[in-house]
Amino acid sequence: MKLSGKTAIVTGAGSGMGLAIAKLFAKEGARVVAVAGNVTKQDDIDKMVDTATNAFGSVDILVNNAGIMDNFLTVGEVTDEVWDRVLAVNLTGPMKLARAAIQIMDKQESGGVIINNASVGGLFGTRGGASYVASKHALIGLTKNIAATYGTFNKIRANAIAPGGVNTNIGATITAPSELGMRAIQGAGEAPIGEPEQIAKVALFLASDDSSFVNGDVLKADGGWTAR
Ligand SMILES: NC(=O)c1ccc[n+]([C@@H]2O[C@H](COP(=O)([O-])OP(=O)(O)OC[C@H]3O[C@@H](n4cnc5c(N)ncnc54)[C@H](O)[C@@H]3O)[C@@H](O)[C@H]2O)c1
Repeated sequence: MKLSGKTAIVTGAGSGMGLAIAKLFAKEGARVVAVAGNVTKQDDIDKMVDTATNAFGSVDILVNNAGIMDNFLTVGEVTDEVWDRVLAVNLTGPMKLARAAIQIMDKQESGGVIINNASVGGLFGTRGGASYVASKHALIGLTKNIAATYGTFNKIRANAIAPGGVNTNIGATITAPSELGMRAIQGAGEAPIGEPEQIAKVALFLASDDSSFVNGDVLKADGGWTAR
């Protein structure tokens, strides 16, 4: 088992990729903290980290997976409310969780691993609306900053995953898509659709010692969508 004795916090583990990651990590021997909690609430963040440390004595892996979309709203269309909510869930929440987890990981001899579930929207301009694309680009920037500051001197590695199209519930939240935003993504061609379990295997690679020299990287898993 690749994660034997490790404690992992996985956000957004109620469905989709988070659920697949939590299940695979547990199968690989990890004690998974997949508590119900809102990543935009500091109290909930503290509770997630406290649960891991009190129940299992460590925080070895943090998977910032929870995320929301934005109906592909362009910068001319996005409201303050949508912008603030998307940035709060996709960027500020992961930063606060990383900040809390690092206090523990920094003191552990074995360090820790942070995995941020970004998106190909974090690498290209059209795979979401303005707020989604900006939040995922920034999440990748945050990942690199953590890797560069903690990874080179300590034993904390931080990497991002950039999935393409994956078969989850997130599509159901695209209720009133922007015409302009949709036109832009259609220009990128049809996306191959992967399954959450395929992304969970990428997360397992990044969480385990198999990737011990991988730090500050972004692993695309999009079935070749962006290779065209
Ligand atoms: N499905 C895709 O095609 C795709 C592609 C690229 C990236 N992603 C990213 O993958 C991640 C997982 O999404 P998914 O596709 O599995 O969708 P999903 O909707 O099935 O899962 C997202 C989870 O996040 C949770 N969540 C939402 N807001 C939250 C909050 N404030 N606090 C805590 N949890 C919250 C939801 O309850 C849900 O369980 C997201 O960050 C998403 O941006 C998805």
